[in-house]
Amino acid sequence: MAKKASSEKLKTAFTSHLKETEGHVERLEKIGTALGIKLTGKKCHAMEGLIEEGKEVIAEDGDGPVIDAALIGAAQRVEHYEMAAYGTVRGIAQTLGHDDAVRLLQQTLDEEGAADKKLTSIAEGEVLSAASQMAAAE
Ligand SMILES: [Fe+2]
Repeated sequence: MAKKASSEKLKTAFTSHLKETEGHVERLEKIGTALGIKLTGKKCHAMEGLIEEGKEVIAEDGDGPVIDAALIGAAQRVEHYEMAAYGTVRGIAQTLGHDDAVRLLQQTLDEEGAADKKLTSIAEGEVLSAASQMAAAE
C-alpha cells in the first residue's frame, strides 16, 4: 500500500505504522510468555478479507489522489477491526486481573487509534480535496 500511495504523507504513514505493527506482535509475544500461553497464530478470516480488499485497491488504475482515498478507506477498515479485537482482548485481560497485559494492549490500542486518526487527517488534509478536483475535472 505504501508503494501504491501517491501522497508522500500517506506513504510515510503506511511505512511507520508497519514498523509499529511489528511492535504489536512483540507485545503479544511478551504477553504470551508472561502468561505461559503459546501463541499459535490462529487464522483470522475477516482480516484476510480486509487484506484482499486492500489488494484490489492496489490492482486498480486511476488518478493518484483517487487511489489514495481508496487506500485510506481500506487501511482504516483494517485499523478499526484491529481496534475492535485489541479492545476486546484488553477487556478480558482487565477482567482477569492481568494488569501488565492490559498496559501492553492499551499501548497497542493507542497506536492503532493514532494511526487511524493520522489517516483521517491525511484524507481531510489533502487527499479528498485533490480527489474531488479530479472528479470535477472529468
Ligand atoms: Fe494497525
